Amino acid sequence: MRVDVALTPADLARQQVAGRTVFVVDILRATTTIAAALHHGATAVVPVATPEAATQRALDIPGAILAGERDCVRIRGFDLGNSPLEMRPRAVNGRTVVLCTTNGTGAFAAVAGAAHVYALAAVNFTRSVAMGRALLDGSGDLLVACAGREGGFGLDDAYAAGRFLRAVLAGNVRGRGLTDAALATVHLARHHGNRWDRLLRQSSAGRRLIGLGFGEDVRMAGRQDEFPVLAAMQNGRITGAT
Ligand code: MLT
Repeated sequence: MRVDVALTPADLARQQVAGRTVFVVDILRATTTIAAALHHGATAVVPVATPEAATQRALDIPGAILAGERDCVRIRGFDLGNSPLEMRPRAVNGRTVVLCTTNGTGAFAAVAGAAHVYALAAVNFTRSVAMGRALLDGSGDLLVACAGREGGFGLDDAYAAGRFLRAVLAGNVRGRGLTDAALATVHLARHHGNRWDRLLRQSSAGRRLIGLGFGEDVRMAGRQDEFPVLAAMQNGRITGAT
C-alpha cells in the first residue's frame, strides 16, 4: 500500500502518475469552485492552464463559458472569475465551464495521465472520501496533489489533504504505507482539528482572499459537503455525479 501527498507542484512534477489514483486539491479556490459549478448543473468543467489556451478551448465547445482568475481577480474578457459564489445555476446550468486559475487548473493538467483523477474540497468531502477509500482498498495506491500557492507550499491544501487521508484511513495510519509527506499532513490535520473555517482564514491564501474582499468565498470553502458532488476528470473534462 502506498499513500502519498505532493505538497507542491514541484513534488507533483517528480511523481509518475500513469495508472494511479490522484485527488487534486486547491481548496482556495479552484476545486471548491469546480464542485460548486457541477453541483449547480454545469455539464462539465474543463481545467486549462493558461488564459490563451482557455480562450482557444472555449471556441471548440458550443455554449462554453470562460471562468478564471489571475491574482485572484477575473481575467479580462472572461465571463466569470474563480469564485464558487459566481457558479450559480443561471450562469452554469447546462453549460461547460472552461476554467483557468493560477495554481489549481495547472495541477489537473499535470496529472492528466493518471488512471483516476478527482477534484477534492471540503464542499464535496464525504463523497470524495468514500471514493478515495474504495479506490485505495482496490488498488492500494493513493496520491493527493496539493496545488499549493505560487509554486510553493499552501497550508490550506496541506490541511485538506490531511483531513482527507485521516477520513479515508479512518484514523488508522499505522502500516498503511504513508510517505513522510502524507504523515506530515495527517499530523497537521490532527493538530488543527475539524474547523475548516479557522484554518482557511489563517492560511496565506485565505488572508489574501479576505484582504481582496473574497471573505465569503473563504467561508464557503469551509462548508463541508455544501456541494456533495463527486468530481471526476476523464479526457480533460471534469464531470459530476451527485
Ligand atoms: C488558484 O488556482 O490559483 C486559486 O484557486 C486562486 C484563487 O483563489 O483564485
